[in-house]
Amino acid sequence: SAPLRIGLAGIGTVGAGVIEVLRENADIISKHCPRPILVTAVSARDRGRDRGIDLSGIAWVDDAAALAARDDVDVVVEVIGGSEGKAKEVVEKAIAAGKHVVTANKALLAHHGTALALAAEEAEVALAYEAAVAGGIPVIKAMREGLAANRITRVYGILNGTCNYILTQMRETGREFADVLEEAQKLGYAEADPSFDVDGIDAAHKLSILTSVAFGCAVDFAGVRISGIRNVSAMDIAYAEELGFRIKLLGLARQTPGGIEQRVHACMVPAASTIAKVDGVYNAVVTSGNFVGENIAIGRGAGRGPTASAVVADLMDIARDRILPAFSAPAATLARAVQAPVGQR
Ligand code: NDP
Ligand code: HSE
Repeated sequence: SAPLRIGLAGIGTVGAGVIEVLRENADIISKHCPRPILVTAVSARDRGRDRGIDLSGIAWVDDAAALAARDDVDVVVEVIGGSEGKAKEVVEKAIAAGKHVVTANKALLAHHGTALALAAEEAEVALAYEAAVAGGIPVIKAMREGLAANRITRVYGILNGTCNYILTQMRETGREFADVLEEAQKLGYAEADPSFDVDGIDAAHKLSILTSVAFGCAVDFAGVRISGIRNVSAMDIAYAEELGFRIKLLGLARQTPGGIEQRVHACMVPAASTIAKVDGVYNAVVTSGNFVGENIAIGRGAGRGPTASAVVADLMDIARDRILPAFSAPAATLARAVQAPVGQR
């Protein structure tokens, strides 16, 4: 059958990984997917940069937003990053042109998720973003499909791989966070602006998306109370250890009588708990549902392979015509939903 043709906006850590997964695992992918998935056009800032991947036979487009207008593109994959600017333009133009969109960009969805979901719904195209939350863990799929029969009462977890990597290294080696951050950047885990990681903003972006999926409310990033790990010292970690605790940056959303509470901050968790043992770049998402009880998913939360794996899973869904509304309820419903978050705004 006809290939699903991809226009790839961004060929950095994640974008290059997407090409790699599609090529290296073409045989596996074809077993699950009737249509071949083919990258036909790419765009990035620097055409001359050596990316270590063969781009021959793929059209180069100088302006990523122009991918949407191409006849040889069915799906635009946005892996540029940032809540505004080119990434937003790429996604908006793709939807307006009637192209499906797959993105790993949690900042964009945290700020504009509900509006983009509405636009996608009106245009009858997919807006898929499995890679945006918890990297390689299929948490959006789990929440919208496997756990969909449940009323979710709480969702929490380790949502930032960079912070978890830093906290783990600090515990294991006694180094301070600034020393370890550079390593996380070299490994391709950190955001373009790593303060998004260490100040808890990236985890909050992801939490606001998870909250929307879990509770069927509009994405409300402004309603998340946020603090990061800058003030956590190696000594804090060592003292916590002595007391039988580990320090983790957690994101938590729960239904309260006053509304949905969303917060991100460093927590002391009992050293014997499952979540305490989730180390390095691994993320964990714990979901409580009224019939299923507690459910925990653990996996790599950042990096080229895990993130690209999630992007390709979304592409496979589109190739199989498995297209769900962007969030757990139709976007028009979300946009109308009145959310009454507790805590500070
Ligand atoms: P990178 O910085 O590695 O790659 C960004 C890519 O976007 C580069 O190829 C860059 O071009 C291109 N780009 C930047 N600005 C423009 C522009 N104006 N026009 C066209 N292309 C542009 O980022 P990542 O791959 O790490 O991240 C991409 C997205 O995925 C982000 O939203 C990030 O939050 C998200 N994400 C990342 C994860 C990770 O582990 N890295 C995990 C989950 C999500 P050039 O190469 O020429 O500089
Ligand atoms: N910077 C992010 C993290 C990338 O470290 O978790 C994955 O979303």
